[in-house]
Amino acid sequence: MHKDIESILYSEEVLASRIKELGDQISKDYKDERVIVVGVMKGANVFVADLIRNITADVILDFIVVSSYGASTETTAVIRLLKDLDENIDSEHVLIVEDIIDSGLTLEYLVNNFETRHPKSIKICTLLNKVERRKIDMKVDYIGFQVPDEFIVGYGIDYAERYRNLPYVGILKRSVYE
Ligand code: PRP
Repeated sequence: MHKDIESILYSEEVLASRIKELGDQISKDYKDERVIVVGVMKGANVFVADLIRNITADVILDFIVVSSYGASTETTAVIRLLKDLDENIDSEHVLIVEDIIDSGLTLEYLVNNFETRHPKSIKICTLLNKVERRKIDMKVDYIGFQVPDEFIVGYGIDYAERYRNLPYVGILKRSVYE
């Protein structure tokens, strides 16, 4: 385990098995359909790569880059769109893939933005759901795990851009950010 990690919440094996279940469910729901899977960068990068390999429906992969908070531990309401979609989502099924939903502000921004482009449907998949911190009420269609309100890193999730490469999801030691 990395020296800055207090404890492991979800090991590589636990993540792989849950992501297979999510992929099976998504494959059933979009059977015989085409779906544009939108990874929300950078955090969802690792998750979306594993998730799409567990989906048997017709997948078009796209990415959007947004930033909601930098090196701080607090979420602000400022969402910056750094890179838009490459695909035209008019009349397409869209599945937005997040690593973690915290306040919900990022997704509220994205869903509102995508709706103006008239997709056939928009669904949301997140690996981790931190419901205690939610400011915006929303329906989340696929959830990997409900997580406690701890400082979580790994498997794509950073603190000050570090720890994204950890293969597991862990809790960061307080001494690192205090
Ligand atoms: C994180 C995470 C989500 C968002 C969730 O991204 O990946 O996109 O915050 O927070 P919210 O529900 O409070 O909006 P971040 O802005 O840290 O960028 P990153 O994906 O590049 O790490």
